[in-house]
Amino acid sequence: MNPVLTQFGAQMSQLTGVRAIMKDIIETLRAGDGQEFINLSAGNPVILPEVEQLWRDCTAELLASNEYGEVVCRYGSSQGYQPLIEAIAQDFNQRYGLKLSDRNILITPGSQALYFYAANAFGGYTTSGNLKQIVLPLSPDYTGYGGVTLIPEALVAYKPALDIDASAHRFKYRPDFSQLEINETTGFVLFSRPCNPTGNVLTDEEVQKIAALATPHNVPVLIDSAYASPFPALNFTDMTPAFGDNIVHCMSLSKAGLPGERVGIAIGDEQVIRVLESFQTNLCIHSSRYGQAIAARAIASGALAEISTQVIRPYYQEKFTVVETSLDQAMPQEIPWLLHRGEGAIFAWLWLQDLPLTDWEFYQRLKQVGVIVVPGSSFFPGLREDWPHKQQCIRISLTASNEEIAIGMQRLAKVVAEVYQLAAASE
Ligand SMILES: Cc1ncc(COP(=O)(O)O)c(C=O)c1O
Repeated sequence: MNPVLTQFGAQMSQLTGVRAIMKDIIETLRAGDGQEFINLSAGNPVILPEVEQLWRDCTAELLASNEYGEVVCRYGSSQGYQPLIEAIAQDFNQRYGLKLSDRNILITPGSQALYFYAANAFGGYTTSGNLKQIVLPLSPDYTGYGGVTLIPEALVAYKPALDIDASAHRFKYRPDFSQLEINETTGFVLFSRPCNPTGNVLTDEEVQKIAALATPHNVPVLIDSAYASPFPALNFTDMTPAFGDNIVHCMSLSKAGLPGERVGIAIGDEQVIRVLESFQTNLCIHSSRYGQAIAARAIASGALAEISTQVIRPYYQEKFTVVETSLDQAMPQEIPWLLHRGEGAIFAWLWLQDLPLTDWEFYQRLKQVGVIVVPGSSFFPGLREDWPHKQQCIRISLTASNEEIAIGMQRLAKVVAEVYQLAAASE
């Protein structure tokens, strides 16, 4: 059967960004013909024993409690499971000196859902026909933002400024405030901090500057804190989570070991939360209450924040060090390779300046030596202009073992040397 699709149907039945590449990766792994691959493409977090145990313990407590029937046998409020909302309000008020009430908090089935609500409530056409843009102030950013809007023309990303330390082979993206426009055509602003794919952490000053640009136009600023403190605390550099009238602090428990349960959290202005909540009621009523109930226990006891800084953060920080040292040892000095500063998240981001191939061709070459990464061009949603840089980067996941990462980087260095040499020889 081949039913006629609407515009939205056509739009939403396509895979965007990295999800399209994942198909190629899964097929490659399946058709391996005995070839062993070092898979540095995964976005799925590693199952860390201490983290799994925490969720197991919270589940055992829930099963043994009177609460169990109430949690799984009944519908609940769209806003979320009350004990979880209370645990978050209490934790954040104490930790950051805030005055949150339960009306400032919404629980969603994963944070991707939250961005979908926001993208279509604040981005797109207003009732008077004006286009409200979804502004990504610093591209590259999370590939999933490419699929959240029903109105693709609403998504607009800005090229970053580049902070380069060529001799150290390191660089960092910064928002380019000389270009960034936030005005009456802006519906809302969205960025991840720490950033997937780059590991970048916008500084506190950069965040305040963006929020200040948005304030006079009544524009919400959604800060995707899927990797931030207090959980999963995957920031390797100091950062203060930002709060403020127009800031919506968006979190996910996925990287804190609970991706299967789909728990996203929005903390922000009451009216903004109300709009997102109604969107959710219409779409799916509410998030699964089992995940919310075990999260309430892990947050209220302080165990989740503790395990985040004691176990999750050091685990990935060490992996980043392995990428760094392996590349420093194996990569040719004379080639302009630049690793993004590792400030957080679970990825390393490598820029091969003047790469003689596209990122996609380079990804294919790496596959031939048994290494799978993600080509970088999928991480520029909303950036329509031609920019060679978009085809010169790759994302390396920090979810493999130290040994696999080290071998993967050595093989990558060899391929890099070959492709640049070949290009030089043919000039
Ligand atoms: C930056 C960022 N935001 C949002 C998400 C979506 O997470 P979830 O829907 O599992 O909360 C991810 C997942 O990888 C991510 O990396």
